[in-house]
Amino acid sequence: MTITAVCPGSFDPITMGHMDIITRASSQFDEVTVVVTGNPHKSSGMFTIEERKELIREAVKSLPNVKVDHWAGLLVDYTTAHGINILVKGLRTSLDYEYELPMAQMNRRLTGIDTAFFMTDPKYGYISSTLCKEVTIYGGDVSDMLPEHVAEAMREKLTARPK
Ligand code: PNS
Repeated sequence: MTITAVCPGSFDPITMGHMDIITRASSQFDEVTVVVTGNPHKSSGMFTIEERKELIREAVKSLPNVKVDHWAGLLVDYTTAHGINILVKGLRTSLDYEYELPMAQMNRRLTGIDTAFFMTDPKYGYISSTLCKEVTIYGGDVSDMLPEHVAEAMREKLTARPK
């Protein structure tokens, strides 16, 4: 049996913490799809949905069983439509647990899909897309918390911003 997993999220942008979870998922499951959620027409954030997908594609190019997709609707509609077996999320702290538990329970109630939680490697425990963006905006260096091309893309975004 082929076990297929989805790693969902907003990925604005993908961090080394996300990469760690995706890489570990790719070694546990036969196929992993990283699904960027959100409405491309109402896209708020630093990167558009298309840019986020491109940054992820580049980041996972050495993982042959990982692909990248986008979904604007209910996540469980995606997993049902694609016959996905399991959702995968990372847990950094108890705050993540509080946030993730009702979503996991709701998704299971809606379609029966389970969520597997991978404990974040402590070296990535404080990393989030939000903090990386904030630190970068104020001139701090987060380059080792992001894939190299993502750090570069973030610098380009900020340089291009109207002052
Ligand atoms: O990276 P994030 O923003 O923490 O990810 C949260 C995400 C995108 C996984 C969650 O908001 C989601 O599943 N959105 C898709 C819409 C949906 O299915 N909502 C109901 C969740 S129970």
